[in-house]
Amino acid sequence: MREQRIVIANWKMQLDLNGSMQLAQDLRISADTIGLPAGTDIVVCPSFDAIAAVSDLMEGSPFRIGAQDVFWQERGAYTGEISASMLKAAGASLVIIGHSERRKYLGEDDAMVNKKVKAALSEHLVPVICVGETYEERREGHTDLILARQVIEGLKGVPLERADHVIIAYEPVWVIGTGQAIEPGMAGHASDVIEQSLIDLFPSEIVDRQTTIIYGGSVNDKNIRKYVALPKIQGVLLGAAGIDAELFIRLIHNM
Ligand code: PGA
Repeated sequence: MREQRIVIANWKMQLDLNGSMQLAQDLRISADTIGLPAGTDIVVCPSFDAIAAVSDLMEGSPFRIGAQDVFWQERGAYTGEISASMLKAAGASLVIIGHSERRKYLGEDDAMVNKKVKAALSEHLVPVICVGETYEERREGHTDLILARQVIEGLKGVPLERADHVIIAYEPVWVIGTGQAIEPGMAGHASDVIEQSLIDLFPSEIVDRQTTIIYGGSVNDKNIRKYVALPKIQGVLLGAAGIDAELFIRLIHNM
């Protein structure tokens, strides 16, 4: 696994264009004033309408831009969708795929995730594949199976070229947005299962060099260190903590 850490903030549908631009400006000012720790990639993922504006505002800063979804086709009659090349042209270098909110509200499944991952990689966008069990799945003892299935199906037939990088975000669905993060041991076990699934798919040197596992679900400035201290967790995916500039910067410094 890489030594570099990563913090990704998913702004979801929380901010309009003005709100996104304001947050980007606030983050830049805080970063310029108090600096950001070396060795940490920081990515913000605004809604589609704000990607280009936030990308312009972050020009020359340490912040990179991501998107919250992508469609698998390049161009055509696909009302409401957006392609990897369009995201790239707007300034994104990374894209979240298969977030549990999309799986839940939009019926996104592993086959769709797989096509989206391939589309992202074809434009050299880094896919952040979200995997995680629901509360019922955990209660019934299916967590490991769900994680392995989501990783393996999501990455099936994906030829990782030398320059490609893939991030897997372990996000227990039942924890997202609750403010109650899980025991680090559970995240540690999930990262073992995810790594094993990656090793089933790719040679281990590719897994080491080109994949990263992160944790998401109610991460804040107080609990972040417990997760990034786990040997296989190299960063976090934030929801609520990523739309408050002060909290976000504090969290990065507490990492
Ligand atoms: P949360 O969201 O940090 O608000 O729990 C995490 C996510 O949805 O990725």
